[in-house]
Amino acid sequence: MKIGIIAALDCEMEEFCRDFGAVDSGHYGIFSGKCKEHDVYICLAGVGKVNAAANTQRLIDLFGVDYVINSGVAGCTCNHLGVCDVVISKELTYHDFSPLDILDKYAPNASVFKANEKLVKLANDACAKIEDENFRYDTGMIVTGDIFVEDSTLVKKFRDNFGALCTEMEGAAVAHVCLLNKVPFVVIRAMSDNADEKADMSFNEMAAIAAKRAGFVSTYIISNL
Ligand code: ADE
Repeated sequence: MKIGIIAALDCEMEEFCRDFGAVDSGHYGIFSGKCKEHDVYICLAGVGKVNAAANTQRLIDLFGVDYVINSGVAGCTCNHLGVCDVVISKELTYHDFSPLDILDKYAPNASVFKANEKLVKLANDACAKIEDENFRYDTGMIVTGDIFVEDSTLVKKFRDNFGALCTEMEGAAVAHVCLLNKVPFVVIRAMSDNADEKADMSFNEMAAIAAKRAGFVSTYIISNL
């Protein structure tokens, strides 16, 4: 099986490269390695929707990946999770596309992108194995936009309007491209902050630690495919 991993930041991809013995693939920002019998292509995509979309399509076109995992950190937008907890995507949408139903009326005729159930189940199995009594996780809606959110009013809007568990800057774009290509995907996000007025400080302190937790879940998925 061929698996593509999309990571926005160095701290979200370094561990994969180490664990999978990855080497430069010869294609900009893409490293190739092995996990058991699987070929794994790890892409350092950069931040935001265009980077995510373009690099997801590159993974599909260059390597014909069978699955895509987007692994990284996010700002928590729900009340029952906190920093270092994990959100598994059930579905994703854009919080900065308006009016959103343009995507329903025209191509791709969907504004909410559903994750692959097998990958979601494996992610839940991985989280159930984490031995930390303070650790919590949930599966639900992730909202994506080209904004680093540090605004509790916006957080409430995401919760009220979308039922969002967390917000980040790539997931729905990865999901959108996977839908167009009929490639199964999942987004795994560990919380680096609460997307509130202290988000920047929390992110700087916690992103590398949270990214490791998302990495553990993503690696478990690949190891058990
Ligand atoms: N990724 C991590 N924290 C985030 C936030 N607060 N907003 C958007 N993306 C994020």
